[in-house]
Amino acid sequence: MDVVEAIRKRRAVRNYTDRPIPDETLDHLLKLALRAPTGSGAQAWSLLVVRDPERRAKVAEFVIAGGARYFREMRPWKDGVSEEEKAEWGRETAEKLLPSYRNVPAWVFGLVVPRDNYPASMRAGGHEDDVISVAFAMENLFLVARAEGIGSVPTTAFQRFEKDTLREILSLPPEVDPVILTPLGYPESFPEGRAPAMAKTFRTWKTLVHDETWGNTRA
Ligand SMILES: Cc1cc2nc3c(=O)[nH]c(=O)nc-3n(C[C@H](O)[C@H](O)[C@H](O)COP(=O)(O)O)c2cc1C
Repeated sequence: MDVVEAIRKRRAVRNYTDRPIPDETLDHLLKLALRAPTGSGAQAWSLLVVRDPERRAKVAEFVIAGGARYFREMRPWKDGVSEEEKAEWGRETAEKLLPSYRNVPAWVFGLVVPRDNYPASMRAGGHEDDVISVAFAMENLFLVARAEGIGSVPTTAFQRFEKDTLREILSLPPEVDPVILTPLGYPESFPEGRAPAMAKTFRTWKTLVHDETWGNTRA
């Protein structure tokens, strides 16, 4: 599959089989991920791969629990619904949408690893560069994975609530920030099209491209 096809066919996959990923395929993905551009050439990143069954199980439960909390927080609730009812609905929704996360053969975490390469005057912007660089590496990973028939989904929201627990599972020191993670695995099939609610509101590329000055969109 060439890069254009991989871009067209990459989708957020939340439904995985337990088919293992061969070591050499995983290495191929990781090497190409780290060919991404890196701000100031700093390589202020690392990829952490989890394949050990016990640790994978911990990560899966952690991410599903984070999903439950995300769904609960994102839903606009009517007055009078108790916190316990909201939490229960969040858990049920996560169990409906994400149970196959317990099957995935590998998880990859995109970590910001500060290299202290920016002077104080540039540190804030420098951190942004580090996060952007990790995102580029992850997009490389997603595209090469797609070309290999492997699914992924950028996940940033689910783990935000309990980063310290994640730090413990992965033995991360405090300065290392797990800004993004993805399951990696072979799906039954890749999604096609969009759910009706999203299809209605998803913007077309012409509404998102402005020529020369703001507001002059192709649409
Ligand atoms: C920065 C970022 C954060 C995301 N966080 C999550 C997440 O926490 N959980 C999740 O299931 N999907 C997450 N997604 C996936 C998006 O929901 C998905 O990309 C979007 O709905 C478009 O679908 P597509 O990737 O299939 O085109 C994230 C995507 C991006 C770019």
